[in-house]
Amino acid sequence: MASSNIKCFQLNTGAFMPAVGLGCFMGPTQTGESEHVTAMVKLALDLGYRHFDTVNSTCNESSVGDALRGTTVPRSELFLTTKLDQKDHGRVREALHASLTKLGVDYVDLYLMHWPMAYDESGTSSHSGKTLQPDEKPTFVETWKEMEASLAEGTAKAIGVSNFSVKTLTELLNHTDKVPAVNQVELHPSLPQHELLAFCRERGILLTAYSPVGKFKFADDPEITAIADAHHASSAQLLLSWGVQRGTAVIPKTVHATRMRENLQLFNLTQADMEALDAFHKKPGMHRSVCGFHSAELGGSCWGWTYEQLGWQMTVGGVHL
Ligand SMILES: NC(=O)c1ccc[n+]([C@@H]2O[C@H](COP(=O)([O-])OP(=O)(O)OC[C@H]3O[C@@H](n4cnc5c(N)ncnc54)[C@H](OP(=O)(O)O)[C@@H]3O)[C@@H](O)[C@H]2O)c1
Repeated sequence: MASSNIKCFQLNTGAFMPAVGLGCFMGPTQTGESEHVTAMVKLALDLGYRHFDTVNSTCNESSVGDALRGTTVPRSELFLTTKLDQKDHGRVREALHASLTKLGVDYVDLYLMHWPMAYDESGTSSHSGKTLQPDEKPTFVETWKEMEASLAEGTAKAIGVSNFSVKTLTELLNHTDKVPAVNQVELHPSLPQHELLAFCRERGILLTAYSPVGKFKFADDPEITAIADAHHASSAQLLLSWGVQRGTAVIPKTVHATRMRENLQLFNLTQADMEALDAFHKKPGMHRSVCGFHSAELGGSCWGWTYEQLGWQMTVGGVHL
């Protein structure tokens, strides 16, 4: 088994989180339990991955758990993240216990509120309930208070949020002294989240980048490949190295051994490289979400909240997102 020698970031709890993790969401067309998920996680464990990011809403926690149940890697060497689904904001403890059972562990290292908006309990699956508006109960502040209880119970070693903006984080921080350890958001050179990164850094919140290689939708841009070539590296290694060098954790998903190895082998960028990637999103048409959450087609809303309620900007530098 390959040894794991991956740089770690220290969370505001004092715990260490490997800077590179494996994203366990296989993509919207492959939601659900699957032997492919188990095989991917097993392979990653063999190649030295110790940080795994999963989520209740894509219903593959049992498949991730099957790989964890079969490993000889001690639990103490693993860093497991899962997320509270929107339909479960009113039943945090129950939802976390269900996740722990599926994963086959006694605790997660990090429990994230997947989105700030809650759904009512009429939904049978993720996103199928009625979205509650920001002032309807449970608000994300109330849900956060329930998540705090999991720290005391020991079922989560750290708690955090996902898809929070400066606006929603500010609202949360106004009502708690338990600062989220992590905010996980879409983040790559086409959506660099500069303002959010500065805000989180000042408050001791680690940003984790999801879709960190941009789902490979712009990795073949000549500017990206030229910088990567100069370092004899791949585009993926460049994008992930940029992410880690600016102080964000990255959780790329891949099912391929060669790519898994590649994604762990990062390098130092020059100041000029960093600046080029920091500014990449300013190129015409390049400032965009590869996941489609910040998208003109969504008509300025996502999962039932307006971009204003989410604290997302519709335009950057005059460019429509
Ligand atoms: N919190 C949230 O709301 C949220 C939302 C979305 C995602 N996430 C998390 O973020 C993780 C990753 O995000 P993502 O899957 O959207 O995007 P991503 O990791 O940026 O991209 C994944 C895609 O890139 C390919 N890829 C990965 N490494 C590569 C490499 N070295 N060379 C070439 N292609 C490579 C993969 O293909 P192959 O598998 O074929 O190699 C896959 O098609 C998810 O698994 C999930 O854990 C969280």
